[in-house]
Amino acid sequence: MEILAFGVQSDEKPLIETAFEGLHEVRCLDVFLNRDTAPIAAGYEIISTSVNADLSAPVLQTLAAGGTQMIAQRSTGFNNIDLEVAERLALRVARVSYYSPYSVAEFAWTLAMAVNRRIIRAASRTRDFDFRLDGLLGRDMRGRTVGVLGTGKIGEVFTRIAHGFGMKLLGWDVVENPACVELGMEYVEKERLFAEADLISLHVPLLPSTQHIIDEAALKAMKDDAILVNSSRGGLIDTAALVTELRAGRFLGVGLDVYEAEAGLFFLDKSLEGIDDDTLARLVTFPNVVVTSHQAYYTEDAVGQIIDATVQNVTDHLARRHSENVLVPRTP
Ligand SMILES: NC(=O)c1ccc[n+]([C@@H]2O[C@H](COP(=O)([O-])OP(=O)(O)OC[C@H]3O[C@@H](n4cnc5c(N)ncnc54)[C@H](O)[C@@H]3O)[C@@H](O)[C@H]2O)c1
Repeated sequence: MEILAFGVQSDEKPLIETAFEGLHEVRCLDVFLNRDTAPIAAGYEIISTSVNADLSAPVLQTLAAGGTQMIAQRSTGFNNIDLEVAERLALRVARVSYYSPYSVAEFAWTLAMAVNRRIIRAASRTRDFDFRLDGLLGRDMRGRTVGVLGTGKIGEVFTRIAHGFGMKLLGWDVVENPACVELGMEYVEKERLFAEADLISLHVPLLPSTQHIIDEAALKAMKDDAILVNSSRGGLIDTAALVTELRAGRFLGVGLDVYEAEAGLFFLDKSLEGIDDDTLARLVTFPNVVVTSHQAYYTEDAVGQIIDATVQNVTDHLARRHSENVLVPRTP
């Protein structure tokens, strides 16, 4: 059987081909799945999709009409998939429920420290042989307060690193994580976390209840010199409101690996044509902001685990086996 994989980065292609070797043929495309590209899947029983795939109702209908029966999503998050429609169309959808939380948590810290210690500006200066330190003043993390929104797998690792820095730990979640409590985390109301944290990092999933959880009021409640990091999902932050606050000179630094309108931009080279997203274009001009294009998960370890799980998800589908990775059908 030949499997069609959408949205494959050049680094991933050999890894995917090796993982499927001897099991199935795999055709890797660098284009992402969306309304325009969905017809390419006609005749493929199994397709695999990447984090920014458009798996909304019209795309799912095109896939089902073309004979697709199974979608192997190569990510943990599945806010891009209309599961109800997929179930109605009798499509099986599986995701990767676990891979290295260290990849994302370590990257969130990389962003936090990059903005804190002005690494981007420092590196571009030394390339120009400008060796001054003006404007590069950072802060020790030790003794400062971190606020972690979402203390699941990634939030817990982020908290462990914060503990290593010697920070005071505040958390907010719908359930407390005993491992974080053991590290000394105090679970508090969001409002207190916003008011007291010097560094706020987002690790909750994107759900209707968390959409724009960082809205104008939340941003205004934060310290003027806080650091804000989002490596979860762009939709957690009202970006227009963030730009307004940044224009007012607030925040020591903001590190964003995700952006609410990233689909159609992130993972693509737009350097020659430019972009018509004025919010993102403005965001990247602030000297205290670092934006990366959804790369937090992108380590050899995490990508390897994602691909291995995807191979297993395909194998399970063909054997009609259920697993915790299967999102729909909800019951075996
Ligand atoms: N940037 C990247 O490359 C990347 C990669 C992987 C995951 N992520 C994002 O990170 C998120 C967290 O991943 P994880 O593996 O830690 O997930 P997880 O399920 O282990 O943890 C999520 C935590 O959020 C909490 N939560 C759920 N709903 C909530 C709500 N409505 N309000 C408050 N808290 C709520 C849960 O209780 C849980 O503790 C994912 O949902 C995904 O969006 C980003």
